[in-house]
Amino acid sequence: MSKRIEVRDLNVYYSKFRAVEGVSLTIEPRSITAFIGPSGCGKSTFLRTLNRMHEVIPGARVEGEVLIDGDDLYGPGVDPVLVRRQVGMVFQRPNPFPTMSIKENVLAGVKLNNRRISKSDADDLVEKSLRGANLWNEVKDRLDRPGSGLSGGQQQRLCIARAIAVSPDILLMDEPCSALDPISTLAIEDLMEELKKEYTIVIVTHNMQQASRVSDKTAFFNIAGTGQPGKLIEYDDTNTIFTQPNVQATEDYVSGRFG
Ligand SMILES: Nc1ncnc2c1ncn2[C@@H]1O[C@H](COP(=O)(O)OP(=O)(O)O)[C@@H](O)[C@H]1O
Ligand SMILES: [Mg+2]
Repeated sequence: MSKRIEVRDLNVYYSKFRAVEGVSLTIEPRSITAFIGPSGCGKSTFLRTLNRMHEVIPGARVEGEVLIDGDDLYGPGVDPVLVRRQVGMVFQRPNPFPTMSIKENVLAGVKLNNRRISKSDADDLVEKSLRGANLWNEVKDRLDRPGSGLSGGQQQRLCIARAIAVSPDILLMDEPCSALDPISTLAIEDLMEELKKEYTIVIVTHNMQQASRVSDKTAFFNIAGTGQPGKLIEYDDTNTIFTQPNVQATEDYVSGRFG
């Protein structure tokens, strides 16, 4: 429950193209880390390597190390399916399974992992996960209705419920609020504050206010030009990144001068 992530000199390639170069950083448990930087600098690419999700893209591969509480994520014999249970992912567009009910959506990850579960355990897990995602009160009377009938903000919280139902240690979120209205965005931000008591959370965000509101640490990525790899420019306490960054490019980005 809630683990440390250590990345050592990570390069990510799409076939011959190096999309991300030389990233090293350590992310502490029970914290929220924000990845910021201009479009195309490799934030999503790097995030996906933290649960081996990039491996579903043909030609995508990494060099370097990712350690989760000291265990090599890319070590021999490590099963990527188990990795993705330990390190959950929430995407930009809420993606509940459209033909499944709210309840089935919450249980989808658990069933995918072939875990046998009794009816009453399933009901408990559904309630616990929906409560954890701050959605229970809104949906408890319609658990058998389709997940796709919920509002965008509710669907995103349903996806978070699905992610936490498998008891991950780490939650990755790639621009989880970019398709949501401001009220739903604040609801997700409040939820992240709650979740960080139990999980290591990493979010990609384009929203500077969001990064400064919710995160403890911020990593600024940048790219020198088209076709160049994205690099980690500066990584520090969020307050430092937004008020006294050490690198000019960080200052320019957080003050809105480019990107
Ligand atoms: N599936 C893919 N196949 C090939 N190249 C990709 C793929 N996904 C992203 N890229 C390239 O990798 C670079 C980084 O992209 P991405 O990680 O999406 O950046 P960001 O999330 O910071 O906007 C870009 O040049 C992008 O075109
Ligand atoms: Mg992205």
